[in-house]
Amino acid sequence: MSQRKSAVILGAQWGDEGKGKIVDVLSEKFDMVARYAGGHNAGHTVIIEGKKFVLQLIPCGVLRPGCKGVIGNGVVLDPMAFLSEVKKLKDVGLPIDGQLFISNRAQVILPYHRMIELAAENAPGRTKIGTTSRGIGPAYEDKMHRSGLRVVDLLNSALLRTHIQNACFEKNTIAHALFGTEPLDPKSMYEEYARAAEQIAPFVTDTAVMLNKAIDDGQKVMFEGAQGALLDIDHGTYPFVTSSSATAGGAVTGTGVGPTRIGTVIGVTKAYVTRVGEGPFPTEIHDDSADLLRARGQEYGAVTGRPRRCGWLDLPLLRYSNMINGTEWLVVTKMDVMDECVDIPVCTGYKINGQLTDVIPADMRGYESIVPVYTTLKGWNCSTEGITEFEKLPQLAQDYLKFLEKESGAKIGMVSTGPDRAQTMTLPAFAEALKA
Ligand code: GDP
Ligand code: IMO
Ligand code: MG
Repeated sequence: MSQRKSAVILGAQWGDEGKGKIVDVLSEKFDMVARYAGGHNAGHTVIIEGKKFVLQLIPCGVLRPGCKGVIGNGVVLDPMAFLSEVKKLKDVGLPIDGQLFISNRAQVILPYHRMIELAAENAPGRTKIGTTSRGIGPAYEDKMHRSGLRVVDLLNSALLRTHIQNACFEKNTIAHALFGTEPLDPKSMYEEYARAAEQIAPFVTDTAVMLNKAIDDGQKVMFEGAQGALLDIDHGTYPFVTSSSATAGGAVTGTGVGPTRIGTVIGVTKAYVTRVGEGPFPTEIHDDSADLLRARGQEYGAVTGRPRRCGWLDLPLLRYSNMINGTEWLVVTKMDVMDECVDIPVCTGYKINGQLTDVIPADMRGYESIVPVYTTLKGWNCSTEGITEFEKLPQLAQDYLKFLEKESGAKIGMVSTGPDRAQTMTLPAFAEALKA
């Protein structure tokens, strides 16, 4: 059977763009949804007929009966977080068994990863990143250091016991010496994780083989990104980033599906920008408008509850994100949040040392010298909430979207006008492309 169009869907900014909602809406058109990076630092919110689900590790596709979920090898898996998420979904009656699969090559997060992260984040003299404290960074460190534990190893009890003993000795020694941290007990850790392994075993398989076979058989796979392009370990605002490849390339290395088998890239962008945690944010708003966006958009972290920093749409950043991801389509979320804005400044370029540029600086000094150049568009000042057809949007909202599309260089495929699954519009060209 000929290959149908699979798609990567990812965050075009600093995360929380509404990926969860859009993956849920689009999952109707796909057979499988695969997470390829990050871990339970992600918080993907889906609202279906007023019922709210926040998924952290499990791909949002599992909320659709018949759509399979895959946790790819690029993910770092906290077994306890995984099991508690599975339980929550089962408790509301979702059929998870036989619908959800974990890569045998995914890396495992263990309690010492969290211990090291917490101690390091609060240590004097360290650059505070404002992480989600889930042990993500230290787990990826071990992966790259070739001293991590993979899911396949978690299932091997002799290997698990030795690994935990050795790793605890090393991490306890380092954490105590550097941060004065109390040691963790390897014996109870082994017992707890060996029990978890038994519950996890039925979900584990070679997901690269499974995904490739599905594509061979004419099925469509959606690769669900976590975090966002500017949080990517290589392309983001380093060091204020997460520790994984959140960009489109991560979908390839994080699942074992080659780039020629992925048909398109869909970037999700808010109609404005938010960021949670530390790091540069050229268009951050420092007046009352930020409070308006935060209140209307309920901009508080889905995982940590932290207030999100709010800013105006940043086109140089979006263009950069589109470039590094090869984004073909954009989904613009949270249009309704701007319904009360009288004027809407949009950043169209950066001035660095008096020179107009579109190039994103690589270093923090570069970011500190950015003076954003704004064009102010008129706000539409009426409700767009729940509108599902482009032509029914107020003219000024249509103008805003057309401006965004022209300046960003990617085509707008969908617009979201509220948190619910139903509060979404799909533009005709995108609907047509999805049929492929
Ligand atoms: P993700 O991490 O990209 O999946 O995004 P989050 O779930 O962390 O944050 C997005 C938040 O915005 C969630 O609370 C969603 O329910 C909400 N949301 C998504 N789309 C819209 C929209 O178009 N309008 C409004 N008002 N809220 C939205
Ligand atoms: P979703 O998938 C927004 C941020 C953290 C911190 C930095 C590093 O919901 O969009 P980490 O714990 O990953 O080492 O933290 O990255 N961060 C996110 N911000 N959305 C996310 O995920 C994030 N995942 C991590 O706030 O600044
Ligand atoms: Mg989120």
